[in-house]
Amino acid sequence: MLLRVKTGVPGLDGILHGGLIKGSNILVTGGPGTGKTVLCAQFIYSGALKHDEPGVFVTVEERPNEMRKEIEQFGWNMKELEENEKIIIIDVASSKAGLSTDEPWALKRGFDINMLAQEIYKASREIDAQRIVVDSLSGVGIRYEKEAEIREAIFKISALLRQLEVTSIMTTETLTSSTGTVTRYGVEEFISQGVIELFLDEENRELKRSLLIRKMRGTAHSLKRFPFEIRSSGIVVLPGDEF
Ligand SMILES: Nc1ncnc2c1ncn2[C@@H]1O[C@H](COP(=O)(O)OP(=O)(O)O)[C@@H](O)[C@H]1O
Ligand SMILES: [Mg+2]
Repeated sequence: MLLRVKTGVPGLDGILHGGLIKGSNILVTGGPGTGKTVLCAQFIYSGALKHDEPGVFVTVEERPNEMRKEIEQFGWNMKELEENEKIIIIDVASSKAGLSTDEPWALKRGFDINMLAQEIYKASREIDAQRIVVDSLSGVGIRYEKEAEIREAIFKISALLRQLEVTSIMTTETLTSSTGTVTRYGVEEFISQGVIELFLDEENRELKRSLLIRKMRGTAHSLKRFPFEIRSSGIVVLPGDEF
């Protein structure tokens, strides 16, 4: 029997026939503002709070304080769980922006992928992490000029996450082109064991959120597109027939 890990998102575990497969590496894709960061935070926060599964959150786009503040709007107190060594936030964003940081877990300026991998490894050992998020991959590759190097970096991170035997989520921003929606480097969806796609579409002059499980190796899952909302309590996935 495959063990399942609860996502912490009401309605999503049912669609996944019980949750994410323990130890798998999942990619969450979607355009800007589709809810990728909220979903990741909900996964890490609820895991630490309700399931006693410590988590590491690697933040590449947003500085930790910005993220903590946004997350607080949902009533999620990251700081408390950080103090209790249930959550570690690794600050990659400050270094990437060339800013100094007071964060206990942060990468130095001019970091490379091996330094990032090392920091993830250390942090996960420190709290015996069961869950890891890398938000986002698109930012990890920013220092590299050649696409081949960026792909290699993405492979390395994904391999490390699997080696650590944690359940992990990486995010990547999708781009819309004439051939449809694609991930930035075109490899992200192949290396991960599952892909959850988030959408924000205009319908009758109103934006609607929905999600689709595009791929989930080793398990049955719904193939329907499900509407979801970001409420004051976080993400809630609604039954598919309401879409
Ligand atoms: N407290 C909140 N209540 C309701 N919706 C929110 C709240 N905070 C953020 N959102 C919604 O979530 C969006 C941002 O989601 P986010 O996860 O940061 O997107 P992404 O990471 O995909 O760019 C905002 O544009 C807003 O629509
Ligand atoms: Mg984000």
